[in-house]
Amino acid sequence: MALKRVGILTGGGDCSGLNAVIRAVTRSAIIQHNATVIGIEDGFDGLIFNKHLELTVRNTRDILPLGGTIIGTTNKGHPFEYRERDEHGNIQVHDYSKKAAENFKRMMLDCLFVVGGDGTLQIANRFYEMGLPVIGIPKTIDNDLEGTDYSFGFHTAVQIACDALDRLQTTGRSHDRVMILELMGRDSGWIALESGISGGAHIILIPEVPYRLDKVIEKIRLREAGGSPYTIIVVAEAACEAGGKEITSEKASERLQGVKQYGGVGNYLTEKIKNEIHQEVRCTVLGHTQRGGTPVSFDRILGTRFGAFAIKAAAEGKFGNMVALDTPNIVLTPLSTLAGLVRKIPPSDQLIESAEAVGISLGRGAKEG
Ligand code: F6P
Repeated sequence: MALKRVGILTGGGDCSGLNAVIRAVTRSAIIQHNATVIGIEDGFDGLIFNKHLELTVRNTRDILPLGGTIIGTTNKGHPFEYRERDEHGNIQVHDYSKKAAENFKRMMLDCLFVVGGDGTLQIANRFYEMGLPVIGIPKTIDNDLEGTDYSFGFHTAVQIACDALDRLQTTGRSHDRVMILELMGRDSGWIALESGISGGAHIILIPEVPYRLDKVIEKIRLREAGGSPYTIIVVAEAACEAGGKEITSEKASERLQGVKQYGGVGNYLTEKIKNEIHQEVRCTVLGHTQRGGTPVSFDRILGTRFGAFAIKAAAEGKFGNMVALDTPNIVLTPLSTLAGLVRKIPPSDQLIESAEAVGISLGRGAKEG
């Protein structure tokens, strides 16, 4: 079918490559179908509160290398469980889904493209089940989405972390220090593992492999005994000690978006390690720099392919699906199959095997490995 009017929104945390998708959806819709493209602003908030703008070839020009999203995003506005603070500071939950669906109909859109991670795509599926013609486009730096080999944003985050490690290597070596780099990734250690391998880390701690502090200390001492009195440690934000719990800076119940905020494990480790060794221990928390700035070419290409394929799928009426990378092809996968699934690194993954084969410690004993 020919598309006349399509809408696109970006939800959840931003990442590099979102603008490549927006540009590809806009250009494909206009070039292939002469359609009007509506950018819904600030994620589902734009649908609830009717905030949108027209996207054209002209106003999406030059955005391919641009980080962030030109139509805005939020990780707070869940339309089915919208959390707002009342005048007493208490969180109140409202269901705005009908309001959002009514606004969608008023906009007279043939399709809504929802670009987001697992939370956003689950919301997209609920709207599809309410009868809205929805197509999902996967994004996350965490690479934790089932159903696609990669989401865009991940490779950029890995490159940023790898660059940081290259810098920590030289200063760490010059001062004979233990340098700890805390990275994002939520419950998955993909960013930590891939950047740790590419950045030459000596110890990589990920949520999938609980670490032992004595093994971390042992590795630092072994390196010193072998003539390398400096050590580079990468720690994923949700990594935890065997038998321990991950470290969060804010609990879900205290946050408006209702999901816990990780952070703090780098400083926690610094304090623990400091007491055991004589070298200085320093911690760098890379934080949101992993989500910002220019996307690497892989993410621009993937974003462009996702956007163009999403338009093709919409024209064929294949709603309720997400575009996905099944290397080397872009395919469709039902949104319903994603529900609540988090892709973690399998313990027997070849990446882990390669890391340990080249002498990187994951903070566990050889027998456990
Ligand atoms: O999911 C992407 C991500 O960047 C995670 O890696 C991180 O834990 C989280 O978002 C941070 O979210 P916020 O921007 O709300 O602090």
